[in-house]
Amino acid sequence: ETQDFLDAFQKRIDAEEKIEPNDDMPEGYRRTLVRQIGQHAHSEIVGMLPEGNWITRAPSLRRKAALLAKVQDEGGHGLYLYSAAETLGVSREEMTEELLSGKAKYSSIFNYPTLSWADMGIVGWLVDGAAIMNQIPLCRCSYGPYARAMIRVCKEESFHQRQGYEIVMFLARGTDAQREMVQDALNRWWWPSLMMFGPHDADSAHSEQSMEWKIKRFSNDALRQKFIDATVPQAEFLGLTLPDPDLKWNAEKGGYDHGEIDWDEFWRVVKGHGVMNRDRIKARKKAWDDGAWVREAALAHAEKREARKQA
Ligand code: ACO
Repeated sequence: ETQDFLDAFQKRIDAEEKIEPNDDMPEGYRRTLVRQIGQHAHSEIVGMLPEGNWITRAPSLRRKAALLAKVQDEGGHGLYLYSAAETLGVSREEMTEELLSGKAKYSSIFNYPTLSWADMGIVGWLVDGAAIMNQIPLCRCSYGPYARAMIRVCKEESFHQRQGYEIVMFLARGTDAQREMVQDALNRWWWPSLMMFGPHDADSAHSEQSMEWKIKRFSNDALRQKFIDATVPQAEFLGLTLPDPDLKWNAEKGGYDHGEIDWDEFWRVVKGHGVMNRDRIKARKKAWDDGAWVREAALAHAEKREARKQA
């Protein structure tokens, strides 16, 4: 890749032009997108598991219908995202194999167990809330197919966040036992939610280049700060306590200061040693293996149709 080519590409990015699948692009740009979109797709699909776990135990038909719809949406998000990644010349089979072999990552957050019904509320409120904070800027990502996919994904995420918040609100206004259950869930999910945004900027290997290419529009720390600032007043409104004694308003910076994130825990989970990592990959592998005959049948059918067209 010549410097002229790289400069011309950067000029298009700086002019806010969208890059489309058939455009020339630096190999590093393509690789970064395949990595990020692939990881994002895997997260959506793996993310169906912790909530799918509660569908049969939802406390009412209305709750069950909403949760079912939400989990189904996540499956849809995964499919859009795999398709967006496929426009970069990688196949879904390759991406799935990378997930199953441990080469491709997926969000750390989905390696924590969902222990009570209150977790469904807290996951919607915090995890989907964090996802929206991270994904709204991706609607302006320089790569066209990813940016366009994110628009619909974000609309649906916003419904997910509200269904979670509504569950939390209901429990927070409920009996002592319900309030305790929801506070316990909040205590367990707060820190992992902050970890979703990724390592500190100083430790983030890809941020600088990704921001230059306008794949990322904000740094990990900037988005984490925006999320904290939006969430603290919501917790106060609910009468719940965020499990961080160092959390306090800093008038000078116009945001909240917070305690240190346990980065050892973060990297442990990212490297496959969280509570649920093994179960998640086992479930994905089973689904992939059990679905092999469907993929084979669909392929055979497509080949037969193609042969008939040729004849
Ligand atoms: N969980 C697992 N791995 C992570 C996480 C996390 N929360 N945060 C960062 N990492 C990984 C990165 O993938 C990277 O590893 P790699 O080089 O093997 O790919 C490494 O840690 C270093 O991090 P960064 O340099 O900061 O990586 P990046 O620039 O890709 O930023 C981020 C990470 C913010 C997650 C980015 O990839 C992103 O915005 N992705 C799209 C959104 C997404 O995937 N959301 C998934 C959860 S939301 C949902 O599914 C509902």
